[in-house]
Amino acid sequence: MFSKWVFCGFVYFLLGFLNLVEFCSGGITSSYVRNADLSLDMPLDSDVFRVPPGYNAPQQVHITQGDHGGRGLIISWITPDEPGSNTVVYWAEDSKLKGSANGVVLTYKYFNYTSGYIHHCKIKNLKFDTKYYYEVGIGNTTRQFWFITPPKVGPDAPYTFGLIGDLGQTYDSNRTLTHYESNPAKGQTVLFVGDLSYADDYPFHDNARWDTWSRFIERNAAHQPWIWTAGNHELDFDPEIGETKPFKPYTSRFFVPYRASESTSPLWYSIKRAAAYVIVLSSYSAYGKSTPQYKWLAMELPKVNRTETPWLIVLMHSPWYNSYVHHYMEGESMRVVYESWFVEYKVDVVFAGHVHAYERSERISNIAYNIVNGLCTPRSDHSAPVYITIGDGGNLEGLATEMTEPQPPYSAYREASFGHGIFDIKNRTHAYFSWHRNQDGFAVEADSLWFHNRYWTSPERTFLAASQ
Ligand SMILES: *[C@@H]1O[C@H](CO)[C@@H](O)[C@H](O)[C@H]1NC(C)=O
Ligand SMILES: *[C@@H]1O[C@H](CO)[C@@H](O)[C@H](O)[C@H]1NC(C)=O
Ligand SMILES: *[C@@H]1O[C@H](CO)[C@@H](O)[C@H](O)[C@H]1NC(C)=O
Ligand SMILES: *[C@@H]1O[C@H](CO)[C@@H](O)[C@H](O)[C@H]1NC(C)=O
Ligand SMILES: *[C@@H]1O[C@H](CO)[C@@H](O)[C@H](O)[C@H]1NC(C)=O
Ligand SMILES: [Fe+2]
Repeated sequence: MFSKWVFCGFVYFLLGFLNLVEFCSGGITSSYVRNADLSLDMPLDSDVFRVPPGYNAPQQVHITQGDHGGRGLIISWITPDEPGSNTVVYWAEDSKLKGSANGVVLTYKYFNYTSGYIHHCKIKNLKFDTKYYYEVGIGNTTRQFWFITPPKVGPDAPYTFGLIGDLGQTYDSNRTLTHYESNPAKGQTVLFVGDLSYADDYPFHDNARWDTWSRFIERNAAHQPWIWTAGNHELDFDPEIGETKPFKPYTSRFFVPYRASESTSPLWYSIKRAAAYVIVLSSYSAYGKSTPQYKWLAMELPKVNRTETPWLIVLMHSPWYNSYVHHYMEGESMRVVYESWFVEYKVDVVFAGHVHAYERSERISNIAYNIVNGLCTPRSDHSAPVYITIGDGGNLEGLATEMTEPQPPYSAYREASFGHGIFDIKNRTHAYFSWHRNQDGFAVEADSLWFHNRYWTSPERTFLAASQ
């Protein structure tokens, strides 16, 4: 609502000459004092990087949604010594009937690194709301995992998403993942907002650090889908060592169901899951008018049926609204192109990473400006999304602690601590977001917000429903 700003204007009017910038400067800058030491990567012999025993044993097992509606799954893993088996065997908990599916296997080279055998296998036509077991590998190196399928897509299908970004592989990364796993809110799927392994921070982008990272997250990502967004650390673009194909390691290792949403690139796509429609965008691919991403998004937004999926979530890496000094205004050029669509289609929430800290915005937009009218500041807008930066996974580059001052009015809460988020959809009208800093107990919410769905609670709708 804009009442706070109206109030600020009123106080300015009354007290005109006093410096009230502090008083009227938006939301809360947390006074929480965190340890700002640089976080160190876990050493190669750490428990979380352990290679599973046995010849050619599958490692780095991870899953993601494999279709548009949640009845498909992509299972990926790597065999180090030889291609081995391409087959996934799976069965529902309450059934003796086993299914099997065959996938693809690929390898890639990066400078002087050659990957293991990367397997991707899609399984389809799963039952909703069902626990499944699955096996990869053969003989005495077979490994078994499980997952639970989401409920059928529909407005009152409750579902709990976790939010993690810029994770890396430090001791803090491990703390973030442990906190997510131990959170009593019980996240069922991770929405990952980009910057995965930070392998590119090593000499020659040491891709062995992609392998360690995927072994680290296996304990969670083999059991619940992680929905991937590409960040700048996925580019691995380095002409000096002859690596000129952007996103090569990332797109080789992490498949996504982009064709199911008629996208032509794995870097932007959408899925439906329970009551949510999730659109993933790429901050590091062309997004201007007439580009493939632009054309796709222009077709995509009108397809979202809010009667079926009331909650529209957008993931991207570089935030549009960021009041930290680090990466300040990097999201501007994309914001200018797409923001009016987000307002028009009433996106509920935009999650981004990139800035290694936490920030939540008011509902604001900055779309009135037309070059000549001078209306170039964000203003309160009930149709606009809430913007949440959650790039605080804990990677080796450390926290972004420097903030622009005073805190701008659009910024509702900001704090430079590592942590994760939970977006808990209760039903068609209510969702609850909470942010959890790593230093607290597992159940503590350092920041939170109730979301009221604007489609299902709008006065016009209530009127229509009442007159039927
Ligand atoms: C796995 O089985 C093979 C023979 O199929 C055997 O040579 C090998 O020692 C076994 N490995 C383990 C770890 O049991
Ligand atoms: C790749 O090259 C670098 C620099 O010469 C070297 O330090 C590293 O050990 C090499 N890695 C492999 C896998 O050969
Ligand atoms: C990572 O966290 C897990 C779970 O809390 C723990 O068992 C493991 O020892 C930790 N590893 C490192 C290297 O911190
Ligand atoms: C939107 O979804 C609802 C509920 O599934 C369905 O009844 C309706 O036909 C859909 N509308 C369109 C335009 O597809
Ligand atoms: C939706 O969830 C909210 C929060 O849990 C609850 O207060 C409300 O009664 C629910 N609405 C319906 C129709 O169940
Ligand atoms: Fe980033």
